[in-house]
Amino acid sequence: MRKLTLATIAENPDDFSTRFELATGEQLILRPLIPGDVEKLARFLADLSPESRRLSTFSSYDRATARELCDAIARYDKLRFAVVEQTAPDEPIVGLLEFSFDLTAGDILRYTKHNSPLNPATDCRFGPTLADEWQNRGIGSLLLPPLFAVARRFGRTRIILWGGVLADNARAIRYYAKNGFVHVGNFRNDEGLACCDMIVTLDNVQATPP
Ligand SMILES: CC(C)(COP(=O)(O)OP(=O)(O)OC[C@H]1O[C@@H](n2cnc3c(N)ncnc32)[C@H](O)[C@@H]1OP(=O)(O)O)[C@@H](O)C(=O)NCCC(=O)NCCS
Repeated sequence: MRKLTLATIAENPDDFSTRFELATGEQLILRPLIPGDVEKLARFLADLSPESRRLSTFSSYDRATARELCDAIARYDKLRFAVVEQTAPDEPIVGLLEFSFDLTAGDILRYTKHNSPLNPATDCRFGPTLADEWQNRGIGSLLLPPLFAVARRFGRTRIILWGGVLADNARAIRYYAKNGFVHVGNFRNDEGLACCDMIVTLDNVQATPP
């Protein structure tokens, strides 16, 4: 299969969408973020609780960041997916799943120190954020197989956590571990907070194409 590009996804977002019907009857769609998402994304960010903002940081939680993320579609190295609740009025965004296909010098140095060197050509970064009311319902896990499949189609074989995970984020650490991520080391982030680095090898996990 030919290697995927950000432009291909931006031009054909429907081809990279996955629908989920939950036992509750609610329907979600995982689809690439699109330029018209600014208002919905701004609402999603604004509605994040202080605790979710502590665990998953954005430069702001408003329209400015929503616009910045939508403007970045198919530019630079980022690929973002939105989770849309189709069975709710106005079909809000209830999750944002982010890939970066560019590792930072900091990532490379940290993993070298962990004795687990990265390969910038075949490793990428990933960060998930769900709306508060959608956390801890198994949704994050449901979303991973199609996301893993997309990473593979970009020629990636491993995924690390974007900025690591805060060491006190027990739920996220459990979530990553149960989905195949392994702990490779600890570090302190720029704010001096204790964090863990975790990595998943895609050959070891289920990846279901959208
Ligand atoms: C992290 C996140 C994406 C995970 O998605 P999710 O849908 O909530 O995860 P799941 O429900 O699939 O799995 C959560 C697991 O953690 C467990 N869990 C919940 N609270 C926990 C706690 N305090 N300590 C340990 N485990 C906990 C759940 O029981 C479940 O494990 P189980 O299936 O073995 O019972 C989501 O919770 C989220 O967006 N959190 C806020 C932002 C965030 O932390 N992002 C990650 C930044 S690195």
